[in-house]
Amino acid sequence: ASAEFDPEAYMNATGMIRRWGYPAEKVDVITEDGHILSMFRIRHGRAAEANSSCRRPAVIFSHGLAADSTQYIINPPESSPAFILADAGFDVFLLNHRGGTYSKRHLRLKPWDNKFWQFTMDELSMYDCPAAIDKAMEITGEKGVYWIGHSMGTSIGYMTIANNPLYNTKIKALFQLAPSGSAGYAIGSLQFVFLYYRIMKPIVDLYRSAFGSHEAAVNVGPVYRELINLCNIIPFGPQFLYFLENMSIGKEEWMSFQSRTPVYLSHIPSGTSTWNFLHWKTARLNRGLIELGYEGLVNVDLFVPSMQEKPPPYDYSVINVPVYHFWSRNDYIASKEDIDKTIMNTLRPEIVTSIEIPEYNHFDYPIALDVGEKVFNPIAKIVRSKEAGMCEQ
Ligand SMILES: *[C@@H]1O[C@H](CO)[C@@H](O)[C@H](O)[C@H]1NC(C)=O
Ligand SMILES: *[C@@H]1O[C@H](CO)[C@@H](O)[C@H](O)[C@H]1NC(C)=O
Ligand SMILES: *[C@@H]1O[C@H](CO)[C@@H](O)[C@H](O)[C@H]1NC(C)=O
Repeated sequence: ASAEFDPEAYMNATGMIRRWGYPAEKVDVITEDGHILSMFRIRHGRAAEANSSCRRPAVIFSHGLAADSTQYIINPPESSPAFILADAGFDVFLLNHRGGTYSKRHLRLKPWDNKFWQFTMDELSMYDCPAAIDKAMEITGEKGVYWIGHSMGTSIGYMTIANNPLYNTKIKALFQLAPSGSAGYAIGSLQFVFLYYRIMKPIVDLYRSAFGSHEAAVNVGPVYRELINLCNIIPFGPQFLYFLENMSIGKEEWMSFQSRTPVYLSHIPSGTSTWNFLHWKTARLNRGLIELGYEGLVNVDLFVPSMQEKPPPYDYSVINVPVYHFWSRNDYIASKEDIDKTIMNTLRPEIVTSIEIPEYNHFDYPIALDVGEKVFNPIAKIVRSKEAGMCEQ
């Protein structure tokens, strides 16, 4: 096991983008409820100058739970989704949802204020996504954007249109990587986390009523990074890490990037709210994403499956844009059963193209070595077939 130090373990997102010769810009997105999100923009690929004689369709990347947009720029260019699409002729926008490392600002609230953290996927889909889409359309002059979501980023993609069908006209297609309906049919050791939660519940509830919603999954890069550096050195340390990954998210076949784990862990996790985790917990219990709202969250214990008057699950039948599902039987979290029973139960099948990536586990979509070949070159090809006059680079 080599414990080389990759410089990105010590850089921020704009530094990581520039390191490989791409142009990095930061766009502030102000949501209707006052959050200020950083959205990074990579206007064009390495070989090109900004070139107005060809078109660059806008694409927005939305990240997973407790991650941030660095998940899409965390490898060298050939295996980083955002760089692959910038080089393929896209105008790339990397959205950072509220609460993460780059989106901890608000017009009125401070991050040490509990109110700052009173949000779930309801707010991400109601406020973050529309504001980001509108902003990208405004600054590019494009008539719509392509959406690429991973895990939670897929859920809030569907929810954005379910909340506000007007976005059927602003989203040109949803590319959903590890489509996540409810985690209600997850397999693997993730279940122990939920069991653990059940045992700890009285303590968690007491804590929650005392402290309200607050930050969870805080990034402690300097600690995680050094711990992994240590694991890469001690005997059987790397084997132990892979054992954990095999158990929880799906079998890991792509061992080659082991030495980059310190880079991953210096950026991810990235903060989100405790309420957001609770939203997933109710989704799992209910086997469907329901809109919780403030009242629902304060009384979250009530939303067990037996409850009679819980709100209905989000209804995806209003979605009317092409949807591409990239999924895998080796994904223990976005399992096939979850997709079938908690997404395809309302999504209209005729708009969905299903693309199985046999070996991928839940986290491979942003970071596997062959994401270009398996996922992002195919996406670029699909878009190229829809868009006239697209830039080659
Ligand atoms: C990244 O770091 C550089 C240099 O330290 C700083 O100028 C820049 O504002 C940072 N960018 C973000 C998005 O935090
Ligand atoms: C993880 O799973 C892969 C694929 O089945 C296997 O080759 C590898 O030995 C496993 N690693 C550990 C540490 O369990
Ligand atoms: C700009 O795009 C056009 C059309 O794709 C291409 O012919 C031209 O070479 C490009 N110019 C530069 C400077 O990249």
